[in-house]
Amino acid sequence: MLDDAKKYQREIEQAAASIRARLGPRPAPRLGLVLGSGLGGFARALEGALRLPYDGIPHFPVSTVAGHAGELALGALNGVPVAAMLGRVHHYEGYALERVVFPARVLARLGIHTLLLTNAAGGLHPEWGRGQLVLVRDHINLIGNPLAGPNLEGWGERFPDMTQAYDPELRRRARQVGERLAIALEEGVYIAVSGPSYETPAEIRAFRQLGADLVGMSTAPEVVAARHLGVRVLAISVVTNLAAGVSAAPVDHAEVLETGRRVEAQLARLLTALAPELAAAAPRVNRG
Ligand code: HPA
Repeated sequence: MLDDAKKYQREIEQAAASIRARLGPRPAPRLGLVLGSGLGGFARALEGALRLPYDGIPHFPVSTVAGHAGELALGALNGVPVAAMLGRVHHYEGYALERVVFPARVLARLGIHTLLLTNAAGGLHPEWGRGQLVLVRDHINLIGNPLAGPNLEGWGERFPDMTQAYDPELRRRARQVGERLAIALEEGVYIAVSGPSYETPAEIRAFRQLGADLVGMSTAPEVVAARHLGVRVLAISVVTNLAAGVSAAPVDHAEVLETGRRVEAQLARLLTALAPELAAAAPRVNRG
């Protein structure tokens, strides 16, 4: 078990070293971005980006899902050196959770102090329309914990605190930027489920009772892994559809992607304006 963990840690070092070598004299990324389903077109906003397909980075997991491009784009966003993941992998694709969070750990190794994740989510609020952007305030993680297994020295605590996993100061800055750009931002709790089937209406009713406002199949494991390493987190959900039973319509992946594309330009404006704000927030200790 410990041997496996040491091998895994070496793989993270190798992936980070390979990216670093190809970055050459460019600055190391300070901000990590994860662009969810249908949201990857954002890469166009990255100035002079170096684009590395995941399958060319040692040990990097490759997404099998439509709408996930599978590239790491390294460039400047509004003057801030960023590493943007265009597409992510999910537990439901058959990847163990340690693989799902592998890229987040590699980005931490490269030196990011903040990780900004986006995702497509079903909305549990009847009054939230498709395309609504929502700051994640907290999560309920039903996928499983990526930290299960040996906790190697120097990675982070065995029992990391999650009381403020979604950084309140970064959320405050995001709200200010939203106001300045006249982009409406709600705030809510994200419940992470394994998928890949969408939920039943009974499950959605139960999730509402639990306090969830959004439902999706990603983000929570990456957030837990990032916080374990001391990386600050901000997450923005795009309500791509109303969750099962909230409206009478069936939930459809094509609709999810279509809504994602519709709000892409707005999201890109928000992320571009946010980047310097996130860079300005004091970094916490990064033990990666
Ligand atoms: N449920 C789960 N995951 C999702 C949904 C949903 O309704 N929409 C986008 N991702």
